[in-house]
Amino acid sequence: MTDTGFIADRLNRISPSRTTAMRTLSQGLKAQGKDVLAISSGEPDFDTPRHIKDAAIAAIEAGETRYTDVAGTLALRRAVCEKFKRDSGLDYAPEEIIVATGGKQVIYDAIIATINPGDEAIIPTPAWVSYPDMVGMAEGKPVLLPCGPNQGFKLTPEQLEAAITPRTKWLILNSPCNPSGALYSVEELRALGEVLMRHPQVWVFSDDIYEKLI
Ligand SMILES: Cc1ncc(COP(=O)(O)O)c(C=O)c1O
Repeated sequence: MTDTGFIADRLNRISPSRTTAMRTLSQGLKAQGKDVLAISSGEPDFDTPRHIKDAAIAAIEAGETRYTDVAGTLALRRAVCEKFKRDSGLDYAPEEIIVATGGKQVIYDAIIATINPGDEAIIPTPAWVSYPDMVGMAEGKPVLLPCGPNQGFKLTPEQLEAAITPRTKWLILNSPCNPSGALYSVEELRALGEVLMRHPQVWVFSDDIYEKLI
């Protein structure tokens, strides 16, 4: 399709999602009656809990179906601030919070808003498949650092130090990690932080989506 000249070149920089390919494959096998244990996409094995369904229905019935603030309603952003305070002891103001329609969108927004062509993002691997593609879409350079089982699938301070260049903009961290499950200790994060203190141009992108899965 790309040789028609209609599709933008930037789409050549992203590959089809392997997670989606695996899900499509497993759904096809299930449809054939095969017994499949699908562990590709992170879909819970339970239905949306009753109180969440009720709250969504009540909001629709109350007419909360209109445009909101672009960053999310003030009530929701205040609730996010309370969550950060309660769970992590972090102080944020609602003006510092942005709500999006899921992790994928908010990560994409952050990357597209900050990466200039040639900027680098350090990504310890194995990593969630979308990070490199998103950086590529923004014309940045994903710097993939192999973190094998011998190092607990975790980035070491030495690897980080060696990978940083004047073009490094982000270190993308995901703890607990999809797919390895690796979880950084406070000491390990502190050691990475000490490296970063020497390179103030590098920002930390902390994807904490699985913080409760420990
Ligand atoms: C590490 C990681 N970050 C972000 C996402 C995207 O989350 P969402 O489904 O909320 O878009 C996923 C989904 O698989 C993920 O594994």
